[in-house]
Amino acid sequence: MQEQVLAVSLAAVAAVAAVFAKVLRELQPGEAGWSAAEAAAKLRARLLWGSLVMGAAIALLTLVPWPHAVATGPEVVSVTVRARLWAWELEPARVPANTPVVFLATSEDVNHGFGVFDLQGRLLFQTQAMPGWVNKVSWTFAEPGRYRILCLEYCGLVHHGMIAELDVVPKG
Ligand code: CUA
Repeated sequence: MQEQVLAVSLAAVAAVAAVFAKVLRELQPGEAGWSAAEAAAKLRARLLWGSLVMGAAIALLTLVPWPHAVATGPEVVSVTVRARLWAWELEPARVPANTPVVFLATSEDVNHGFGVFDLQGRLLFQTQAMPGWVNKVSWTFAEPGRYRILCLEYCGLVHHGMIAELDVVPKG
């Protein structure tokens, strides 16, 4: 699914770039007395190509490795995450450290934000828990301990109290 999204996004970016390039080609004034307009057009072209190259470089640097790739393989541990007003149900709620864990997140009512925080209270990753849909996200916990799950999508009166815990135990 993510590979298709990436391909569609890249195709859309290429299409927009092609339109910009065509407009720029047709904008060349090329007549006497147009030097200011010509200079402005050249500057715009440089800015456009500069931003395109910069954008492509940023995309390549930040999307490799693709951050949403879901772990697969025999060693993967799956955790089913069910969200509801206002609780989390994790099955199982205990996973081994240094093992890829795939969270399958869904909701029984409204949209919730499944956010997992490390032992220092820093957000590690998050995905939406949506009704009628299963979102997959994987993570390998390096450190054993008690991790916290908080809801990151406002879901009503007790949104702030939608907290759960995930125990990461030493592998073995
Ligand atoms: Cu569930 Cu906010």
